Amino acid sequence: MTKANWNYPTAVRFGAGRIADLPDALKVAGVEKPLLVTDAGLAGLPVTQKVLADLKAQGIDVSLFSDVKPNPISANVEAGIKVLREGGYDGVIAFGGGSGLDTAKVIAFMAGQTRPMWDFEDIGDWWTRADPQGIFPIVAVPTTAGTGSEVGRAGVITDETTHTKKVIFHPLMMPKVVIADPELTVGMPKFITVGTGMDALAHCLEAYCAPGYHPMADGIAVEGIRLVFENLPKVVLDPGNIEARGHLMSAAAMGATAFQKGLGAIHALSHPVGALYDTHHGMTNAVFMPYVLKVNKPAIEAKIARLAAYLGLAPSFDAFLHAVVALRLRLEVPHTLSDFGVDGEQRDKIGDMAIVDPTAGGNPVELTRERALEIFDRAMEGRI
Ligand SMILES: [Fe+2]
Repeated sequence: MTKANWNYPTAVRFGAGRIADLPDALKVAGVEKPLLVTDAGLAGLPVTQKVLADLKAQGIDVSLFSDVKPNPISANVEAGIKVLREGGYDGVIAFGGGSGLDTAKVIAFMAGQTRPMWDFEDIGDWWTRADPQGIFPIVAVPTTAGTGSEVGRAGVITDETTHTKKVIFHPLMMPKVVIADPELTVGMPKFITVGTGMDALAHCLEAYCAPGYHPMADGIAVEGIRLVFENLPKVVLDPGNIEARGHLMSAAAMGATAFQKGLGAIHALSHPVGALYDTHHGMTNAVFMPYVLKVNKPAIEAKIARLAAYLGLAPSFDAFLHAVVALRLRLEVPHTLSDFGVDGEQRDKIGDMAIVDPTAGGNPVELTRERALEIFDRAMEGRI
């Protein structure tokens, strides 16, 4: 398989077997005593245990922190900060899927801060409140291909007092080195492979559709979309296809690179549903995707027709919409929110939360409360 080193948007060591580079990556990042942060589900799996054992065998004094929920809460971050500060660590290995990576990055960011975490929410220039000297270096090792958080400068944490997801942002939360080794994703269950892959697709698609002039993001997004369309079905049919898994890992990093341009209503609705029903983030995006596309159609029709042509489809909005629906069907994504276990009881609250979600502003048509509820109702009923 192709191996490559990239320096955009950070140093990425890409390819099968690159996890062997982790000791060197730590050295490059200036980390001697790392705390490996991952989520509770991943901590006990062989993939994590092997990485820990290999590091220890090479004389690296590494410890594990894994008190991290699938949708991480501030208490998880606070517990991690305490362990990091009291254990004399000098850096963090962010290991896992979105929850592990995001929590790890926020813990590393908070290492030397004196203000509380919510003071650094991604609002205006609040990030400038942080002391850059107090941010520990991060080496990121994704074990899923979806979130792209390994190349991102933010972490999403749930405020358990309000059940809202909040973004903590700082430019120095960008990992110093990323190990993108698709072999680490092989053991993921199908549900996670599909959910994370569809999250990568949602990042690329929403970034591409977001208004504003950012041709670099647009270019990255369209190729990321192609990689997911071509490779996610291959991986579902043959989970051992490392080549295809590598392409998905690239698409994940591309999605997160592109979405600095913006996200949109898929994420704005997925965030409250995830916070209120504890659903899988990427799979929730996958459920919402065609309904959001349809409601946004007046603003994105020409753009999506160009995208369809690039994908080898008929150059029309409808051809792309059909391809999305067909992809979901092939991957056994639930077609409606009801099939996904979401009831309508919190409908009004979801509408309220969606329009103030930080991603709502990137939607190509204004996400009013009426529009958010229209998308929600369509997704409940399966009415594209
Ligand atoms: Fe996402």
